[in-house]
Amino acid sequence: MRTAIIGSGYLGLTTGAVFSAAGHQTYCVDIKPTLIKTIKSGTPPFYEPYLDELVSQTVSNKKLIPTLSYEEAIPNTDISFVCVDTPGDKDGNLSIKSVKAAITSISKNIEKDNHIIVIKSTVPLGTANTIQTIIQENTDKKVHVARNPEFLAEGSAVFDTLLPDRIIIGTDSNYAFNQLCKLFKSIDNYAKKIINEENTRNKIMKFSKTYRSKFNYSIPFENRVLRTNTASSELIKMTANSYLAMKISYANAIANICENSDANVNEVLEGIGRDPRIGRDFLYAGLGWGGGCFPKDVRGLIKNAQNYGYKFNLLKEVENINNFQIDLAVNKVKNLFGKQLSKKTITILGLSYKPGTNDTRKSPAIKLVKYISKYVKKIKIYDPKSLENAEKQLENLDNIYFASNIEDVFKESNLAILATEWPEFLSLDFDHLKDLMEDNIIIDTRNSLDRHELESLGFTYTGIGI
Ligand code: UDX
Repeated sequence: MRTAIIGSGYLGLTTGAVFSAAGHQTYCVDIKPTLIKTIKSGTPPFYEPYLDELVSQTVSNKKLIPTLSYEEAIPNTDISFVCVDTPGDKDGNLSIKSVKAAITSISKNIEKDNHIIVIKSTVPLGTANTIQTIIQENTDKKVHVARNPEFLAEGSAVFDTLLPDRIIIGTDSNYAFNQLCKLFKSIDNYAKKIINEENTRNKIMKFSKTYRSKFNYSIPFENRVLRTNTASSELIKMTANSYLAMKISYANAIANICENSDANVNEVLEGIGRDPRIGRDFLYAGLGWGGGCFPKDVRGLIKNAQNYGYKFNLLKEVENINNFQIDLAVNKVKNLFGKQLSKKTITILGLSYKPGTNDTRKSPAIKLVKYISKYVKKIKIYDPKSLENAEKQLENLDNIYFASNIEDVFKESNLAILATEWPEFLSLDFDHLKDLMEDNIIIDTRNSLDRHELESLGFTYTGIGI
């Protein structure tokens, strides 16, 4: 099939690269000239494991065509996927400005009947009529519309796209549903073929271990497809992410009871996570959730609920608990040093909102740096991938030192805080690093380091609720 992807960011480029690798001629359209230029050179404009290989391979064999032009892309394709941004404001309203612009430009360039427009971007509940009106105003051809919310997570985006655990198709068009099933079935066949290649399987195994992600190969394709009505498909994405955010906040709330008692949150969560009705995933206490999706989707669901007459107070508390985790970490630092805090140098390990990505949007680690910087002499920061993005967010702070490597970030520090659990931080040579520090103190806000090892080396170790 020939597809056009509108919006070549995280979601769009990953989707386009996977479609084209599976053999579908795919145009990746975007309005940003520098972004298209970078993709044309065969490189993704952001870090995502394994995406560079796919983009370089599919751009060079011309299966993936990056372009600024709808006129080039749409007449040559059967299905357009809208993958543009829908930014949320502080009240949770999601802007559909880019979605409207994309649908207008697609519609104007449709030359044949039966083009399918698929909305992957997260749109507010009840957007169907607006979309239908835009299409009718801009084309007299027959157009089918479907929603196909995305669930790819940064750091595992390629594998999530290859092997999604569910494929939601929200449409009242049987034609669109059948065509999309055909397309996704072909991706599934491609995924199954490549996971049997040793090289890819090794990558997936290494990756699953590192990022706690699970890939379940055994569920048949047909059981992963779920057809829904349009409104349900609009609500599914926000509902899913808010539920996961709630799970994490629940873990953090329990950690706060453990903070003030002898209970250990890891043991408590393991004890409940073995119940299959609860499950262990997304039940890790720490510095809280961030990123481009959870904060936006939680707020978006609160707002959508309000628009439909329901006050979602539960989710407001999910947000409050998340914010409290930063206060908790800062208070630990204050309690450690008391009045001496303003003379101290603090090391922060990790700045992205989670490992495996260079994304620092709404990152708890960045919030922590901003907050602590008010009280200390100096903050030394290091991240394997996101220093450049962090720099843009921290440029107004004058006591931040951007370290170039691990030794540099530990040197003359009074306290090291693990803020993002990158795998390289979990296997550091602390026996060597302790000699570089002024004081051997570690706060592990992700409960990911080996407490016994650190204590036996003479470190003072503190986690969250353990
Ligand atoms: C999320 C969803 O997982 C994905 O399905 C969706 O479509 C997009 O949003 P993403 O934002 O990339 O993906 O990150 P995710 O892996 O879900 O992590 C979100 C945040 O929760 C991170 O800040 C992470 O550090 C935090 N987290 C996760 C915890 O604090 N504890 C956990 O147990 C799990």
